[in-house]
Amino acid sequence: MQTDNHASRILLGISGGIAAYKAPLLVRNLRTRGADVVPVLTQNASRFVTETALQAVADNRPRTELWDAEAEAAMGHIELARWADAVVIAPATANLIARLANGIADDLLTTLYLATTAPVFIAPAMNVKMWEHAATQRNIQRLRDDGVTVLGPAHGEQACGEFGPGRMIEPQEIAEAVTAAIGTPRVLDGTRVLITAGPTREFLDPVRFISNRSSGRQGFALAEAARNAGAEVTLVAGPVHLSTPTGIERIDVVSAREMKDAVTERAPDADIFVSVAAVADYRPHTVHDQKLKKSQQQSGDFRVALKENEDIVGSIAGVEPRPFVVGFAAETENPLEYAREKRRRKCMDAIVVNDVSDAAIGFDSSDNAVTLIHAGGEVGLPKMPKGAIARRLVDEIATLYASAGRG
Ligand code: C5P
Repeated sequence: MQTDNHASRILLGISGGIAAYKAPLLVRNLRTRGADVVPVLTQNASRFVTETALQAVADNRPRTELWDAEAEAAMGHIELARWADAVVIAPATANLIARLANGIADDLLTTLYLATTAPVFIAPAMNVKMWEHAATQRNIQRLRDDGVTVLGPAHGEQACGEFGPGRMIEPQEIAEAVTAAIGTPRVLDGTRVLITAGPTREFLDPVRFISNRSSGRQGFALAEAARNAGAEVTLVAGPVHLSTPTGIERIDVVSAREMKDAVTERAPDADIFVSVAAVADYRPHTVHDQKLKKSQQQSGDFRVALKENEDIVGSIAGVEPRPFVVGFAAETENPLEYAREKRRRKCMDAIVVNDVSDAAIGFDSSDNAVTLIHAGGEVGLPKMPKGAIARRLVDEIATLYASAGRG
């Protein structure tokens, strides 16, 4: 075992599902990112992956038994639980999830789970029907409530020939999510964060719409940073070309009204709501079923009657009980003045403003520079990558949330 203080120490629990054959690859992926990995197999896992293969890639002896006197003499299971910076269980079968959720400690892995205070990540893998079963969903929710981060499962074809959610997410994705998360202070541990991102589209006919400029990148980066800080994140996304960060629930919407419905339904469960989306303020009064022909339009100028969309963030912030609400504002002139006024008008706890007249930041750029305005002051974050902005914002939001007495 490495003695390097800087290597993150990961206990990799492997339970008995077909996806266990990917465990050696996960060990490799974790080690490439500088982790020291000790594999722990359940009895059934040994049917899918050999200790020999794991020993070779981990360079640590895999553990299987609570009653292995030799292994216990080298490092007892309580010591092993303390040693870990993180516990990753991949694959996590329905049976293992049920045992974890109920605090049953009848083998080495489940005992380590109870004995550790390190963050725990599970990557479920099972048949789609087993995943969707009420009992599994109940157990997953219980684990989330206990602070476990659930990574996946992915949708796709399964070993049993069925199609749907239940596949283990890929080893590389697991390794990325875990290493990013354990390097980050868990300032949002146990909170539920609802985020909107991207633009909305307001259709005039099947081919034409009104929209706002927004790549969705800042909102997605914020979702990822909140997840890394320990939050359970739901992301309501308008039409964007971005893949879903691992371990985040994503709901795709198109119009402002769909976004409002998705947010209204989920806001009662959220501790924090961050409205990053560039919601269209207006929609066409009439939506035509067929593509409008030029001849149907008035000659010369063509006028479209618009109807105002309801303000989503205002509708959530204006009604108690409500989550802690953070809005965004993209401005081209007097950004701070407009944002201060907007924060008060929309009853938001804080607002993040960026000056989009500068082409080097905002919109399609990978960098951003913002100011966070709240009732007690303002924090300027200079130009940096959107991921770094997101991390800083998560820290600031977590502090404000805690001092608002809601944390
Ligand atoms: O007034 P403006 O659109 O600039 O306000 C921006 C803030 O309001 C953002 O947080 C945005 O997500 C939110 N917003 C909203 N619903 C709308 C319009 C804006 O939630 N219909």
